[in-house]
Amino acid sequence: MKGLILAAGKGTRLRPLSYTKPKPLLPVANQSVINYGIEQLYNLGIREVGVVIHPSQEDIFKRYLQINYKKGIHVHYIFQHEQKGISHAIGEAQSFIGSEPFVVLLGDNLIDESLTLLKDQFNKNGVHGAVMLSEVNRPQDYGIAEIKNERIINVQEKPQAPKSNLAVIGVYMFDPAIFTAIQSISPSARGEYEITDVIQWMIDNGCTVNYVKTDKPTFDVGTMERWLDANRWKLKQKGDQWDNDFNGKYQDSIIIPPVKIGTNCHIENSIIGPYTSVESDVTIKNSFVQNSIILKNARVISVPYEIKDSIVGENTEIISKEMNANTMQGIIGDQSSIIFSNSAAKRKKK
Ligand code: G1P
Repeated sequence: MKGLILAAGKGTRLRPLSYTKPKPLLPVANQSVINYGIEQLYNLGIREVGVVIHPSQEDIFKRYLQINYKKGIHVHYIFQHEQKGISHAIGEAQSFIGSEPFVVLLGDNLIDESLTLLKDQFNKNGVHGAVMLSEVNRPQDYGIAEIKNERIINVQEKPQAPKSNLAVIGVYMFDPAIFTAIQSISPSARGEYEITDVIQWMIDNGCTVNYVKTDKPTFDVGTMERWLDANRWKLKQKGDQWDNDFNGKYQDSIIIPPVKIGTNCHIENSIIGPYTSVESDVTIKNSFVQNSIILKNARVISVPYEIKDSIVGENTEIISKEMNANTMQGIIGDQSSIIFSNSAAKRKKK
């Protein structure tokens, strides 16, 4: 069995951070989203993983995925020149997949459920596909499955009148019969070759597609809020060992778990946490950071406001030269956002 991770998406809702790093490489509790997926494929016994990317992303993926080579996983990059949907991306991987069955994961999705139950469903006689389903609050935003007598009878992409609240989340297993289906469907109204249309085509043409329903958390790290949610969840799971790989400088500070702090950080006279992950080479002095993600090599120094629900990008600085300063100076990157608390807003009105 092979693995395929779809990672070519543009991540427009995560700008400006997705300008420099594709969504699957963004860290959740200091580990790239895609690395969690690779770990799950590894746990299923998979050693050959295809990662579908845009050609422009090759260098950055090669830099960040090195860790997995150590485990004996071979990563193959497959180019998708135009982003024309999930089915199109799978179609581009046909020669990599060959005649083997395979697992498909979406590179920006995090799931807690192991893939073993899905594999058991997939391995049953005469089955050509298996999908993971999860109950969702807004079925209009997902591919939705209709179940009858424990069989999927219908799948619809983002239906206006959903027949259930069971979403087909980004975890699929197929055998190469899918490639005939991919060649047989047309693009949807949004111009994409939808995975749901392919599944429906398979069902309509006599292929059994089984399912597993998961009650465990699943996250699509597609917006800042969901990224922070996923980070909180993973930090909670990893527990209180904030200093696992901490080897930096730490002085007169309070850490409120769950917190994850990367290597070579300098934390001084600050309060960090709860629910905060700090990547490597970060300096935080005289500041208070909670429920936030601080990326590599950022410097947060003497910030007079509590930093909360925030994402601070790589190589950025938030610095106050004097406490209670009334002026602000800075270079704010394209599509960045800075929101001051009420007290600062009141000061501005005077
Ligand atoms: C895609 C799929 C949809 C699936 C969802 C899961 O939607 O088309 O069937 O339910 O991923 O995250 P998109 O992210 O393209 O809106």
